[in-house]
Amino acid sequence: MPTQEAPPSPGGHRITVIGAGTMGAGITSLALGHGVPVTLVDVDPAALDGARDRIAYHGRVAQLMGAAPEGVRPGALDTTTSLESAAGATVVIEAVTEDEDTKAGLLTEVGARTKPGTVLITNTSSIPVDHLAGHHPRPDEVVGTHFMNPPYLIRTVEVIRGPRTSRHTLDALDGLLRTLRRESVTVSDAPGFVTSRLLHPMINDAARVVQEGTASAEDVDALMVGCLGHRTGPLRTADMIGLDNLVDSLRVLYERTGDERCRPCDLLLEKVGAGDHGRKSGRGFFTYERTEQLS
Ligand SMILES: NC(=O)c1ccc[n+]([C@@H]2O[C@H](COP(=O)([O-])OP(=O)(O)OC[C@H]3O[C@@H](n4cnc5c(N)ncnc54)[C@H](O)[C@@H]3O)[C@@H](O)[C@H]2O)c1
Repeated sequence: MPTQEAPPSPGGHRITVIGAGTMGAGITSLALGHGVPVTLVDVDPAALDGARDRIAYHGRVAQLMGAAPEGVRPGALDTTTSLESAAGATVVIEAVTEDEDTKAGLLTEVGARTKPGTVLITNTSSIPVDHLAGHHPRPDEVVGTHFMNPPYLIRTVEVIRGPRTSRHTLDALDGLLRTLRRESVTVSDAPGFVTSRLLHPMINDAARVVQEGTASAEDVDALMVGCLGHRTGPLRTADMIGLDNLVDSLRVLYERTGDERCRPCDLLLEKVGAGDHGRKSGRGFFTYERTEQLS
């Protein structure tokens, strides 16, 4: 039987996404839906199994919501626990746990495997990009791209240009974002950049209001949606982000800015300690059905 050749990838991109959690699965879904092949890597085989189910579900949601381009054959998905695929990638996107040491070690390992000219995108929420770039053998190839959750539905992406990010890296990223039909806003490097620096302390305050007994989670969100035009309310947003990730990000912000509003409040810490991580675990400030957990 003749072997079937894979169709050429739009823009010639071959992406390795590292981290198969909430964001890694969502970014993978976005790329596949635009015809770009992805190798998804995680240290945890169970995370890869869960991601495959979620990616299939995202594909159906993106089609139903008109968020995937018409007539584009989905990119091929490969999953693995090995970092070897990074050697053949045109772009590597890291979306691993928001922990400085984990990300730093990973960037050193990836930099040793990739060819010069391979863009390394970090999807960190709050760690300054230049701090991470310092752990890559070619810091000019590192750029921050803060995809929002869910990446296959949200069209605007915050791009963080580190002081050492090169023009060539920014141009390559621009080409990728055009292939993925995303719009970008480029900002300077700082803890939490713009979106996390504004959103995460606000969510922490919303959780503190519940902790202090001023209002229920339902009422906090109802007021923020009904009176202030927030799309989902801060506490449903927190559940969507993942309360574990939110706490990690707040800790980075607190350590790097000293801003008391960023010190994670007791209620958030209690929920994370109890395993109530939000939508992905089925319970956070609210409870979720199985299909909601997939999204
Ligand atoms: N959740 C959000 O809404 C959101 C939004 C924007 C940015 N981010 C950022 O994206 C990144 C990922 O967040 P998430 O919410 O997807 O986290 P998550 O906890 O859902 O998933 C993280 C995944 O990384 C894997 N991992 C950890 N160390 C690894 C390693 N060395 N190699 C390979 N895999 C490894 C874990 O097994 C896990 O599956 C974080 O930096 C986070 O701050 C999150």
